[in-house]
Formats: sequence, structure tokens, C-alpha cells
Amino acid sequence: MCSIIGYSGKLTFAAPLLVESLKKMEYRGYDSVGIATLNNGSILVSKGVGKVTEVDQNMQLNKLPGAIGIGHTRWATHGGVNDKNAHPHYSCTSRIAVVHNGIIENYEELKIKLERDGHAFKSQTDSEVIAHILEKYYEKYNFSIRDTMTHVCEEIRGSFAFVAVFDNGVIAGARFDEPLIIGVSQDALFLSSDVLGFLKYTDKAIFLDNGDIAILENKKYTIFDNNRKIITRPITQVAWELGSAEKGKFAHYTIKEIHEQSDTLLKPFEASNDFETFCKFLNTASNIYITGSGTSYNSGLLGKLLLSKYAKKKSEVYMSSEFQYFSDTVEPNSVVVAISQSGETADVLHSVKRAKENGAKILSIVNIPTSSLARMSDSFLSLNCGPEIGVAATKSFMGQLMILYNIVFILSNRSLRFSVKDQKNLQNLVKRALDLNDKIKDVVNSFDTNLKDIYILGRSIHYPIALEASLKIKELAYIHAEGIAAGELKHGPLALIDKESVVIVLNPNDETYQDIISSTNEIKSRGAFIIGISNLPSDLYDVFIELPETELYLYPLVEIIPLQMMSYYLAIQKQLDPDYPRNLAKSVTVK
Ligand code: F6R
Repeated sequence: MCSIIGYSGKLTFAAPLLVESLKKMEYRGYDSVGIATLNNGSILVSKGVGKVTEVDQNMQLNKLPGAIGIGHTRWATHGGVNDKNAHPHYSCTSRIAVVHNGIIENYEELKIKLERDGHAFKSQTDSEVIAHILEKYYEKYNFSIRDTMTHVCEEIRGSFAFVAVFDNGVIAGARFDEPLIIGVSQDALFLSSDVLGFLKYTDKAIFLDNGDIAILENKKYTIFDNNRKIITRPITQVAWELGSAEKGKFAHYTIKEIHEQSDTLLKPFEASNDFETFCKFLNTASNIYITGSGTSYNSGLLGKLLLSKYAKKKSEVYMSSEFQYFSDTVEPNSVVVAISQSGETADVLHSVKRAKENGAKILSIVNIPTSSLARMSDSFLSLNCGPEIGVAATKSFMGQLMILYNIVFILSNRSLRFSVKDQKNLQNLVKRALDLNDKIKDVVNSFDTNLKDIYILGRSIHYPIALEASLKIKELAYIHAEGIAAGELKHGPLALIDKESVVIVLNPNDETYQDIISSTNEIKSRGAFIIGISNLPSDLYDVFIELPETELYLYPLVEIIPLQMMSYYLAIQKQLDPDYPRNLAKSVTVK
């Protein structure tokens, strides 16, 4: 989605800081960028289409004079990607500029009214209505900034966070279902969508609650709650080191994060995670529902299989965007396990809210312990894997699986032979899978660059990995990819297979092995090119990717790695930027 930053502090020039902050948060949305600063009582705006570095070079963003300011990177929802729709948006008189993340649902009716009252719109965005309503109350009715903000928040509907700079030097922001965090240091105050926006300057953060309005004025901040009463919110010390958000020796965050997995997989066990309490909730629940979106849904699907197979526990798994349609049957004594790297995904939050209304307990698995999801949960477990900057989820998927494996280990009365906490074994295993890097690069380089379709077959615990691999290939390499439960092949998808097809079979030597070999024979005889990912070779494979030997139930943790690398190298082969896939954003905070 979009990222927003507001800065008010001691610096004489705010622009370079705003540009740097936007670079740190660019993963949230990256089709256009802009900043506004206040200079000698005038608000200056500079903005354009492209990544932060590009627009900064073209427009000299960091040269904009002024000591306080706001900034934005955009992920378009309303209005095309063009300079006019880039934020910040001015009020008619340019005495206010605003940046916004989220969706204003009633913007069309508001726009009609505002235009009738003489306001001239310059963009096609929903966001611009905020600037004009601010103008109405602040300039026309001469309201205080607090009252102006209150009225704006009453008039607009939807899920949003916005930050405005006023020509009197005040920065104000509001949070309604989209994240907004105050960063507090001795020298400066920030209002940001993400702690990464200010972590270089301070690790002290105040996470605004839904409905809060914050005003930064004269080096002080004031927070008003939903009833517009002044409220004190706790200051949280954010634990992340900035170093972990750098690319280091790697060309992209994505490949760096893939390679980090041999370290990050054990991070959930270094955090203060209370697995026992989490598992107690699961043990006493009448029903267990698991939900998540995208990659987090795929890990939930594996969680369901592991719970059933090894802990003999029944659960249901739903994509969060679909879960709301089943909320009528979520009973009070049930538990919802919500999985989300960001903890801010709108579909997840929405479905969890519905389940909570029905009386369900909420357990979450998140990477951001201060996220909205963690804060609305009865218990949460943290992946603790550090910032994941690449838009495609990689190390967070691994962290989610590790937590799910450990839950299953506890719920099965530790009857699995191998605990995921057995550090040496697992780390070695993952390291050996990471050693496949060069082999995977060579395999990808041997592919036709016009590759159109890739199918990934798996059964049982390998099926969620097939789905996850297909998601990675789609988003990183823009190639049509389908994860298929191999048993379903004959029920339809086999019709797609021909000499042009590339089929990856996930085939460790477990109970699914023989059936996968049968399916492989069927596709081989249709002329497809077969990549076998297994611990056993077979003449059926045109390319064999050999997995290290391990306990059979741990193979999902290993087999995903060559597939993540394959997706990355497919993107590189097509000269795409794997860190910033087109049309996507890291944190999908709109429904
Ligand atoms: C895939 C990907 C997305 C996210 C999905 C959920 O690589 O990144 O599919 O997994 O948007 O995001 P979180 O886990 O933050 O709720």
C-alpha cells in the first residue's frame, strides 16, 4: 500500500530525511512518490511517477527547502499512475498539503459537494477530498486544527491514515484502520506508516489506536482518542536494528532474505514467545479455524495438514478474503489462528474482527508484534525474523512454518521424532538446500526466456508448497504458474500438458512418492519437461534437484528453498526487479 511520513524537528532541511524515510518504506508501494515542505510560510510540493531514487534524481526532491514536511510513496487504488495523482495533494489555496494511505469509500459524493462549493480538484484520487475538507474547516470556518481534523474524520468513510501539513507549521494525522505511528526522539517527531520510516533516528514509537488523531506542534505531540479527549498512549521501544534492513552483499533484498533463512528460522525461539499458552487455547477450543492471505494462507494450509496428521487435531483453513462469508458458523468457544507477516492485512483484520464478534478467541502468528493483528489477539507468536523488505514473502514463510511445526510438536505430546528447535540439524538442512543456489541459477538459465506456463505438482504436505511456489513464480517472474494437487491432474489439468509445459514435481520419498511417480509418467508421456525435486533420483526427471536427507515430515521446510530461488532467478532472467513486482505492495491494507 502507500507509505506516509511526517517530520517536525530541529533540521533546517527536512527533504533529505523525508526522501531517506520513503526509501526505507518503499516496499509498501512504489509507483510514484512526493514530498511537501513548509518554507517561509509556504507549502512546496514536488512529486512524480517512479521509484524514490528516480523521482529524487529527476525532481531534486531532496533539495526542496523547508524544515518540516510530509512524504508519500503510492500504490494506486483510485486514479491512474501519473504525476497529478501522486501525493501530496494541495488544498485549493495551497495552505495545506496531505498524504494518505487507504481508501475513502464515499469520496465521490464528497467530491461532488466540494466541487459544488467551488473546490477545484487536480487529481482523480480519492485522497484529494481530504485536502479540500481540511481547507473547508481550517480556512473557511477558521476551526482549530483539532476541530478541523475531527470534522474531516467524521465526513470521510473507509479505512485510512493520513497526514497533513498546515501553513502554520503544524503536522496532523489520523488513523482509521490503517497504521500510523508516532516516532519520538529528543530532536524530532515523526508520523509514519511504519517504524522503518524513523528507525534511523529513534526506536521510541507510539502506535496510534483506531480513531486517534495526533497533532505535532511546537516540538510536542498531542493525541486525541475517538471521543476527542486527550489521551496518553504508551511509548514502545522498537527492537529492530536497522542493519538488518540493508541488502549487504546481495543484489536484491529477495535473494538476501532467501539466504537469511538458515538464521531466521530459529528466531521465533529467541523471542519471548509463549508457545504453551498458545497451545492451551488450541487444546481447549471446540473448533480451530486458520486464516491468512497469500503466502500466509499457504502456510496455514500446511498447518492444517500437520495438525491433522501428527497432532490428530481437526481444523479448517480459510483464505481471509473468504473467511468472512463463513463467519456465521464460527462459535463462541472456537479459536481462530490468524497468520500474517505484517499483521496489517485488511482481509485478515476484517475476518478476525467478524470472528471476534462471534466470541471466538484470536491467536495470531505475526512478524510485527506491535501490529494491529497482534494487538487484537488473545495470544500471539512472533516470527521475529526482522524486516522483510522484498515484496514476495520468503523468510516469513519459513518462520510461519517453524512456528506451526513447533505447535504441532507440542500438541502431539512431543511424539514427533525431531523437534524443529533442534538447531544444528535444521540449520544444516536449510544451509544444504541454500547450497543449491548455483545449480538453480543454471537450471533457470537453460530455460527458454519465453516460458509461459509452469505447473508444480505435490500431494499432502507438499501441496501447500506447490501453491506457495506457484505464487512466488507468478509474482516475481510474471509467469503463469499453477500448484496442483497431483491427484487432481486426471480430473482436468492434464489437458493443459503438452511439449511446451514445464512441470515441477515435489517428490520426497514418503507416502506420496509412488503416486507422484505415476503422475510424472503420465505427464512425461505427453512430452512435458520434468523437474524432479526429491531425495531420490529418477529417470523420469529431465532435471533432478536433489534434496538433503531428513525426516520425511520436514521436507516442506527444505523443498520450498530451491523453488524460492527458482522464482528469483526467473525474474532476473527476464530482467525484472524481484524486490518490487509490478502492481503489488508488501502490505495490503485495503480490502
Ligand atoms: C506473497 C505475498 C503476499 C502476502 C499476503 C499476506 O509473496 O507476499 O501474498 O503473503 O499479502 O500478507 P501478510 O502475511 O502480511 O498478511
